[in-house]
Amino acid sequence: MWLLDRGPEFLAPRSRRAMLPAVKIGVLGATGPAGRGLAARLSDVGYEVLAGSRELAKAERVVADLAETWGDRVARITPADNQAACDADVVVLAVHADAALATSKYFADQLAGKVVVSMANNLVRSGTEFNAVPPPHGSIAKEMQALLWRSKVVTAFHLVPAAEFVNLDEKMESDVVACGDDDGAREALMEIICAIPELRAFDGGSLENAVGMETFAAVLLTVNIRHKVRAGLRFSGI
Ligand SMILES: NC(=O)c1ccc[n+]([C@@H]2O[C@H](COP(=O)([O-])OP(=O)(O)OC[C@H]3O[C@@H](n4cnc5c(N)ncnc54)[C@H](OP(=O)(O)O)[C@@H]3O)[C@@H](O)[C@H]2O)c1
Repeated sequence: MWLLDRGPEFLAPRSRRAMLPAVKIGVLGATGPAGRGLAARLSDVGYEVLAGSRELAKAERVVADLAETWGDRVARITPADNQAACDADVVVLAVHADAALATSKYFADQLAGKVVVSMANNLVRSGTEFNAVPPPHGSIAKEMQALLWRSKVVTAFHLVPAAEFVNLDEKMESDVVACGDDDGAREALMEIICAIPELRAFDGGSLENAVGMETFAAVLLTVNIRHKVRAGLRFSGI
């Protein structure tokens, strides 16, 4: 039980900044709102980030925009094409959800042996309601692990709105559940999550449970639409 073993420092991620490992993080699709926001947050806390796109020039434009707004806080982000971004130790698939599996398959060789983070929610909107569309293996994460059988697929960030990431001056308010079959990979991801101030990481168990996060995103978005709010996930009692 990761959370129970960690003690009080778990709830004070800022104090753990000094412990940041020299991990380079690649973000595929870092030109979208979720990817660019995550890249900015990771750079801001000291990670080297490769911000990937299918088009290097597009990644360069996005990184220049971020630099104009945030200056040195995003200085650790390097624009890259998606292939180059796969050189990182940990690679986040932040591409459009429909493209997550095709992109994983395309880069399967480069991603072999690496920790690969899926944050994809495959949802369809029907009026004021969102519904999840699970693929044959039950979740995008399980499908991805089947395609990336030589990688360690883990999942997180499904319920963190991109808007919450992107304003570095705004306090983050979400709890993030990490799932994955490899204990070391899941723990590495939780270290990364906790490095972002105010984000709390929780161990959600194996990839079997990723479906819970992927599909709950549909419920959360429906609540947000119907109640005209921007709610996220926060566990009580902890
Ligand atoms: N937005 C949110 O609030 C949020 C919250 C939680 C989780 N997520 C998940 O995070 C992921 C990214 O979300 P997003 O809203 O940032 O996505 P997005 O804007 O729809 O797409 C992100 C990037 O994916 C790339 N892309 C688009 N179509 C592609 C294709 N056919 N093949 C390869 N790459 C393609 C594009 O980058 P290039 O053109 O530069 O290659 C695009 O900028 C999704 O899986 C989503 O489910 C999003």
